[in-house]
Amino acid sequence: MAKITAAITAVHGYVPEYVLNNSELAQMVDTTDEWITSRTGIRERRILKGEGKGTSVMGIAAVQGLLKKTNTNPDSIELLICATTTPDMQFPATANIICDMAGLKHAWGYDLQAACSGFLYALTTASRMIESGSIRRAIVVGADKMSSIIDYTDRSTCVIFGDGGGAVLLEPNTHGLGILDCIMYSDGAGRIHLHQKAGGSAMPASKETVEKKLHYVYQEGQAVYKFAVSRMADVGYEIMTKNGLGPEDIAWLVPHQANKRIIDATAHKMGLPDNKVMINIQKYGNTTNGTIPLCLWEWEKQLHKGDNLILAAFGGGFTWGAVYIKWAYDTK
Ligand code: UT7
Repeated sequence: MAKITAAITAVHGYVPEYVLNNSELAQMVDTTDEWITSRTGIRERRILKGEGKGTSVMGIAAVQGLLKKTNTNPDSIELLICATTTPDMQFPATANIICDMAGLKHAWGYDLQAACSGFLYALTTASRMIESGSIRRAIVVGADKMSSIIDYTDRSTCVIFGDGGGAVLLEPNTHGLGILDCIMYSDGAGRIHLHQKAGGSAMPASKETVEKKLHYVYQEGQAVYKFAVSRMADVGYEIMTKNGLGPEDIAWLVPHQANKRIIDATAHKMGLPDNKVMINIQKYGNTTNGTIPLCLWEWEKQLHKGDNLILAAFGGGFTWGAVYIKWAYDTK
């Protein structure tokens, strides 16, 4: 029997309408467009506005768009994994909310937390279930409302993050297309450099935690940068060499969009020219779990059946990893 692989057969994304650009940020904190652009590559980011609107709003829109464009019956989806660091609530899972609101009546689902590497972790997990034959159709969502955990008086974090998300449809393939390899890592010792201090079971929310601003992203930028730049480049290079791929064999690098300098270093280590690297950080900033599906969505029409793609990410945890995909379709 032919080996089953899991192939992405469609992708869709969603970004909120509101654009927060660098000049507006420069009126909120002591920063400049020049500093943000030269240190990160970011010019603007999207913000989800509106009372009661959480990450699920973006996940639902991405899933609904995915089902519509592929004319897929929601009843045929068996599994939905939502990679997010900003779930609507502690429980139930945002995946459950998305399934309900998008009409996925026969799907089970759960959230997956691996900070900025979450989408790749979720893709790896879902692809294994499809390879095993236990699931035929799955959706992986990567979405975050980072603005809900950002302190807009802290210039070192508020310039970096934005809101957005995307979703991919996964189906079995028996022609050697789809997700061909995944390499994932984590190192919990890195948690001291990037985390949210309060709101979990170790430090539940209280008047004090709110007053001390402990519900926001805490990041030691330079320390995280040092790890991110080496680990993401190393794992991208590792998956290439493990699969016998040279730079000429790779059509696209799809990197997590945390900092343009980290992306450039990864591409450099892999020997890839700029025109093979998906970059939209200038428009959206770091949307955490949203970055990679948003890139795939934006470049979907330029992707061809048989193209070799390397997806790579690094995030809080620390977590990092890479996925090798042989793209399964041409967009009509
Ligand atoms: O996605 C998950 C993982 N996260 C990452 O990969 C992020 C990794 N880190 C980074 O991308 C970078 O470290 C940052 C973009 C966060 C910061 O850039 P940096 O070049 O490492 O800056 P820095 O933290 O070393 O700060 C340099 C200076 C400091 O001033 P002094 O102490 O030299 O006077 C900061 O206070 O820049 C100052 N600074 C700013 N100045 C203007 C920090 N933020 C700003 C700002 N505007 N927004």
